[in-house]
Amino acid sequence: MSTNNCTYSPPSNVICLPRTNQLEALLTIIRDKDTNRGDFIFYSDRIIRLLVEEGCEFNGVSFKGKICGVSIMRAGEAMEHGLRDCCRSVRIGKILIQRDEETAQPKLYYAKLPPGIENRYVLLLDPMLATGGSAIKAIEVLISYGVKEDKILFLNLIAAPEGIQAVISKFSKLKIITAFIDQGLNEKKYIIPGLGDFGKSD
Ligand code: URA
Repeated sequence: MSTNNCTYSPPSNVICLPRTNQLEALLTIIRDKDTNRGDFIFYSDRIIRLLVEEGCEFNGVSFKGKICGVSIMRAGEAMEHGLRDCCRSVRIGKILIQRDEETAQPKLYYAKLPPGIENRYVLLLDPMLATGGSAIKAIEVLISYGVKEDKILFLNLIAAPEGIQAVISKFSKLKIITAFIDQGLNEKKYIIPGLGDFGKSD
């Protein structure tokens, strides 16, 4: 059974935050195009903290040095603050993936990952899971650094069913923790209803 307002029933390794009134209210605020930048950051941070707490509770992931964060630049960096609010001195790495102009495929441009990442749970951060193209590339990078697939928790605010399917069909052992699963993607690969461009929230 889906916990969402859509017909899509996510696979069992997708954890969707319970739809409380509080979460509904937070979503309404961040979806509203009249919400100013300060409020957008404040309220999206509240959702991000809920995601991080869910991720840290999952499978007994403890706060004691066994986790790290990795943000998918640039939008994922907006989630670092919420992660630090919950896990004070957590190490956070970064991965930059962009579309290769020649091949149109996602390409790794930069990766700086915490030492010992292969022994940690990784909270992978990207607020919007749309097609899953950069997420898949980022997960491949983590695995190439020795991270175990079942120790990756991919945290998003809003996910599209297409992106969930793309990621889970390649990596069936990781977990996706999301606040909302929306209807799908439009022709520009934006999430519908989504919240537009996450990076342009002013
Ligand atoms: N990134 C965004 O900022 N918005 C989307 O809808 C999809 C990806």
